[in-house]
Amino acid sequence: MSDKNWTDTERFDNKAAEWDANAVRAALADAVARAIVAHMPVGKPANALEFGCGTGLVTTRIAPHCAQLTALDSSSEMLRMLAEKIAATSIANVRPLHLDFSRPEAAAGLDRNYDFACSSMTLHHIPDTASFLRELFGHLSPGGTLAIADLDAEDGLFHDDATEKVHHGFDRDALKTLLESAGFSSISFMTAHIIEKKNREGKLASYPVFLVTAVKPKA
Ligand SMILES: C[S@@+](CC[C@H](N)C(=O)[O-])C[C@H]1O[C@@H](n2cnc3c(N)ncnc32)[C@H](O)[C@@H]1O
Repeated sequence: MSDKNWTDTERFDNKAAEWDANAVRAALADAVARAIVAHMPVGKPANALEFGCGTGLVTTRIAPHCAQLTALDSSSEMLRMLAEKIAATSIANVRPLHLDFSRPEAAAGLDRNYDFACSSMTLHHIPDTASFLRELFGHLSPGGTLAIADLDAEDGLFHDDATEKVHHGFDRDALKTLLESAGFSSISFMTAHIIEKKNREGKLASYPVFLVTAVKPKA
């Protein structure tokens, strides 16, 4: 699994225009953004990063709680939707950035002093979780906080397209071990939301979404 490039920008490019029309996504973004803000360090992050920001459902909700927020995504169409929102509102502190974060060579130019990094529903799209968490660790400043929301281990029926390359959620204990191996400490999980939706087999199913927070130690 770890050697594959799963970044399917075309899939997200094609979904971008309709992304926000899905009420399940909006409810999820609302709950995740509230959980992320609740776990921000005291005082506004000076230099925050959101990876896999998509159209900005979470971005626009957390931006008022950050001084500066870099919102990156590998889909130019998702970012175009975000740029339209920024232009239509008074949001002045969000910098959209087109970047495939699963490619270390692409991430090489990214800041290495973010004091806060967050994400919603993107980690399961990144093939090699262990090496990605190590990469992410390198972009946080000492004392920086990480907050990632994603699916708990699921039945493999969450995504409508069976051919989509994704992790089927994450086992919390296994993810904690990967975060520790990457160097993070103070790792803590909470349930941010439960998605109720029809799965690929047409059955109404519940998919819990965790928020894991962790800190890059100061020394
Ligand atoms: C399921 S969507 C979630 C979008 C947004 N966070 C939300 O909650 O609506 C996953 C997003 O991650 C982006 N993505 C997937 N792989 C990525 C990568 N390697 N680097 C940057 N963004 C990536 C996709 O383009 C997509 O916008």
